[in-house]
Amino acid sequence: MKGMRNFIAISNIILFLPIITYAQNDEALPIYKNPAAPIEDRVNDLLGRMTTEEKIEQLSGGQLSIAGLTGLATLNAGYDTPDNERLGIPGLKFADGPRGVRFGKSTCFAVSASRAASWDRKLEENVGNAMGVETLAKARNCLLAPSINVVRHPGYGRAQETYGEDPFLLGEMGAAFINGAQKNVMADAKHYAANNIENTRQIVNVVIDERTLREVYLPHFKKAVQDAKVASVMSAYNRVNGLYCSENEHLLKDILKDEWGFDGFVVSDWFAFKIRPLRALEAGLDVEMPFALSYGLPLEIAEAIHRIPMESLDESVKRILRQKFRFGLFDIKRKVDADIHKSEEHKKLAYLSSLEGITLLKNNNNVLPLNRNTIKTIAVVGKYANTARLGDGGSSAVTPEYTVSPYEGIKNRAGNGVQVLLSEGGDAAAVASKADVTVVIAALTPQDEGEFLFISGGDRANLRLHEEDEQLIEAACKSSKKCVVVMEAGSAIIVEPWIDKADGIVMAWYPGQEGGNAIADVLFGNYNPSGKLPVTFGKSEDQYPPQLRNSLRATYGYYHGYRYIDKNNLEPRYEFGYGLSYTTFDYSNMRIDKLSAAKNDTINVSFDLTNSGEVDGNEVVQLYVGFESSKIDRSVKELKGFEKVAVAPGETKRVTIPIKVEDLAYYNVDKKAWEVENITYSVYIGASSKDIRLKGEFSVN
Ligand code: GLC
Repeated sequence: MKGMRNFIAISNIILFLPIITYAQNDEALPIYKNPAAPIEDRVNDLLGRMTTEEKIEQLSGGQLSIAGLTGLATLNAGYDTPDNERLGIPGLKFADGPRGVRFGKSTCFAVSASRAASWDRKLEENVGNAMGVETLAKARNCLLAPSINVVRHPGYGRAQETYGEDPFLLGEMGAAFINGAQKNVMADAKHYAANNIENTRQIVNVVIDERTLREVYLPHFKKAVQDAKVASVMSAYNRVNGLYCSENEHLLKDILKDEWGFDGFVVSDWFAFKIRPLRALEAGLDVEMPFALSYGLPLEIAEAIHRIPMESLDESVKRILRQKFRFGLFDIKRKVDADIHKSEEHKKLAYLSSLEGITLLKNNNNVLPLNRNTIKTIAVVGKYANTARLGDGGSSAVTPEYTVSPYEGIKNRAGNGVQVLLSEGGDAAAVASKADVTVVIAALTPQDEGEFLFISGGDRANLRLHEEDEQLIEAACKSSKKCVVVMEAGSAIIVEPWIDKADGIVMAWYPGQEGGNAIADVLFGNYNPSGKLPVTFGKSEDQYPPQLRNSLRATYGYYHGYRYIDKNNLEPRYEFGYGLSYTTFDYSNMRIDKLSAAKNDTINVSFDLTNSGEVDGNEVVQLYVGFESSKIDRSVKELKGFEKVAVAPGETKRVTIPIKVEDLAYYNVDKKAWEVENITYSVYIGASSKDIRLKGEFSVN
């Protein structure tokens, strides 16, 4: 094959020799090298100078090689597409992931699930920006994040990497991340689409009706493309309605590229199957990673017999070049300090990414915040009490310079007058008996949940804590005067077996390198917890649709999460959007600025939010729209807006949340179009999806 490649290369050079000669003689810079020229002109100029072989080279991580495989293992190669020396085209240089830059040492932020629980768009944009800067610092140019997979079941192995169960929250947080990251490098919205089962991710065929696909599994990708202008989208491993996502024309061309107008490139997940390489190219897969397993040889064979769909080849190369020009790969040589991840700014952001996501679930008799004046001894117990649980060991793993365990954080914040005892083993009950309050750290591990890597990860076998931790809670809470359970996991935990034993319960997710300090600051009240759940914490597994964790074929329903809870009149333990505070908030004086709206209107819902307690607080106010008068089967209500508002004690702030009427549309499968019903819509303003404080309505005609 080498000979064939050389033949092709020589034949093309002979053809292009005149142009090359002319360009060298012509003083003017070639258009594609001119930063002032319009990007499309630069793309077309450069494309016209490329041989077919050079075009093919843009489409993959190159030929499978030992160097590439070892590089893949150590993250130093196998993540790149080749540079083109002749024309000076830099290759794509990818790096994961949603928790931080998986390349050398980087800042390890709290997992995406924690940031979802913060409901703080600005924070997420700042986290995206910081990861983008660190990607640049490592001379990489495309960050493989955010993951915006729907958590259709909390047992989904990679729930920690994404922003929860609701398409609106996924879209808002994903777009915020992309806006931040793309101030520096290309971002990548993944995994497109319906990638929500981990154990059989490479082969499962997700059977999904068009309305469920459009309304539940795609809106957040559409927002990433149309609002955040994401540079790339990663096609998922799984099949959708029989076709692998990497060669699924309906997903890649009909919807993503033609209907949504996506002008970036689609990159396959690593080693993702493609049955028919030429079909994948024509279906809209632009880049095959990590190696040219199907895009290499077969394309060259196809070329040799002149069967390559040249228009598809050119289209893919243009998409890749377009983003390379857009993100300055040809022009900007921005130097970033290689040690930026050691900066105070990035450490602080890692801390905030945990702090704002920590969610207070139970606080009986105000056991929290811990009062240093009355508490002289604290016991911190649990197998992982002095371990930083950062999350799974898959592609989103990050190696930080340091970590702070829960015990270290509590020691750091306790102050001199408070003794902090530690037990990581069997003497926990004895240690707890000496304490005024016991903090039980109950954490999941990469063996319980994470990217499916055969030896670790996968979908959760159940939604409970480890049995040993449930027993520890029982013992420690029995022998201690008071006890607080701090959970570290990527998604919902069923707390029923032990909930009555604990005075306080806190969800800390996988809190990143600064997690211990953030947990301690919430426990001691240095920060008033403001997290709200991005996933439903049910009382039992039958409050969720079937997990389907080992399915080869999985049919997705229209309802899951709080929409499933509402539709079935269920009472979860802690609902979507739930989270307690050390203060109280009152909601009043709601006003809807249009009681009758047209389809292209935006309605503004405003209300007063008062902090009626004693301490500063940040409240996540949520706006749900109800479809009770709909003529078709619809959710009882759907999240359509939220804001995180800081309010001082006694202060009242006027909050306004806009609703675009077009966002209330359902997908009419018969018409193959979105349709807004001319009905009356309910507006619910809530502190959670069940704790509704204000209600109103408007109609559309
Ligand atoms: C993995 C993951 C994907 C990641 C890629 C590169 O299998 O599914 O999220 O970006 O491969 O590591």
